[in-house]
Amino acid sequence: MNICFIGSGYVGLVSGVLFSDFGNLVYCVDKDKKKIANLENGKIPIYEPGLEELVIKNFKAKKIKFTTDLIKSIRQSQIIFIAVGTPSSKDGSSADLSGVFNVARIISKNINSYKIIVTKSTVPLGTGDKIESILKLNNSSKKFDVVSNPEFLREGDAIRDFRFPDRVVIGTNNPDKVIPIMKSLYAPIINKGAKFLVVERRAAELIKYASNAFLATKITFINEIANLCEKTSINIDDIALGIGSDARIGSRFLRAGPAYGGSCFPKDTKALVKTARNLNIDLSLVSNVIKSNDKRSSLILSKILKILKNKKNQKIGFLGVTFKANTDDMRDSSSLKIIPGLIKNGYNVSYYDPTGKKDIFNQYNSSLEYIDNLSDLVTKSDLVVIHTEWDEFKSINFIELKKNKKLIIFDLRNLYDPKSFLNKKIKYFSIGRPFNV
Ligand code: UGA
Repeated sequence: MNICFIGSGYVGLVSGVLFSDFGNLVYCVDKDKKKIANLENGKIPIYEPGLEELVIKNFKAKKIKFTTDLIKSIRQSQIIFIAVGTPSSKDGSSADLSGVFNVARIISKNINSYKIIVTKSTVPLGTGDKIESILKLNNSSKKFDVVSNPEFLREGDAIRDFRFPDRVVIGTNNPDKVIPIMKSLYAPIINKGAKFLVVERRAAELIKYASNAFLATKITFINEIANLCEKTSINIDDIALGIGSDARIGSRFLRAGPAYGGSCFPKDTKALVKTARNLNIDLSLVSNVIKSNDKRSSLILSKILKILKNKKNQKIGFLGVTFKANTDDMRDSSSLKIIPGLIKNGYNVSYYDPTGKKDIFNQYNSSLEYIDNLSDLVTKSDLVVIHTEWDEFKSINFIELKKNKKLIIFDLRNLYDPKSFLNKKIKYFSIGRPFNV
């Protein structure tokens, strides 16, 4: 099948290259000429394990084409995925859809045969209806169908999530025509056991937001229970195991940690609350999740300050600053609140991240240093804050690195057993476990 992805960002690129790997001819379109030229040379604009190899393999096999020629790509494809960015709008509470509607207008003028237009970008409830109206301006409704097919890829695990999803959701108001085509596109995934769910188009749009809001709620719940555990000397990991073993609750997304971040949960929870508010529905639970998560970075900051006991000469080293491991993405990372907070309180901070120095921190140059390897960071620090859960942070020999000097560790991801530091010159704090601040 010939398909095209408009927008070669995270979603477009990962999905496009994997559909090409299944044997389709995929046009990955982007208006950014430099990005397209880089992709043709095998240079990937994002960090995603395994993606580069797949891009190079399928580009060499001529199954994926990178292009700025939007019109040609539309005309040659039967299925057109809209995967352009939907950033938060200026007030931060809803998604900016101008990119999506611009693309819809161009598609509208270039429908030369029956086409399925699919929204892959996360778009608010009712966006499919608006796209349909734009397409109807120039075309009879028999020439196209607009479908919602939300993605559930996690950054850092996107390739596995694409190949082995729990479910594929197709939202369509014309299932008889659309479903056989979409089913054949997704056959390699369905055949491996993924559920194939067909729902009304607006339901699919809402499934995406409700999924992310539910996961954000689950994380916020365990973070709040971790606060309670800290006051009662109970281990949050035992609680997560105890409740997660109930199949009705499920064990995933119950890892207590810093505030959740990334390009999705913060943005999507706010957009969902806004959508509901416009319809006079108060999503008080999700609103409180947003508030609780916003407060969490201040809570972690105050814990660090308490550990430091106002000793301004203490050197603080951060291990990882991205919003989670296996990504170079800094969007809404809790480090963006905690590190400036420490600097404001007069501390010098350094950091190491497996994905390198972060430009967003350049403004703090005099008080924030990037150290390009883990051992030096640990050696030079009095307090190490483990901020993300990269594998290389999971078995650090702190005792050997510090050569019997004092060290404090604040492990925000509970990567170590607190007992392993008993009777050592290392003081160890973590989240929601005994021996805490
Ligand atoms: C999330 C969803 O998991 C994907 O299904 C969805 O497709 C994606 O948003 C999206 O809408 O595009 P992502 O933002 O890549 O994926 O990252 P997650 O792995 O979900 O983590 C989000 C945040 O929650 C991170 O800050 C992470 O550290 C935190 N988290 C996650 C926890 O604190 N505890 C957990 O148990 C799990």
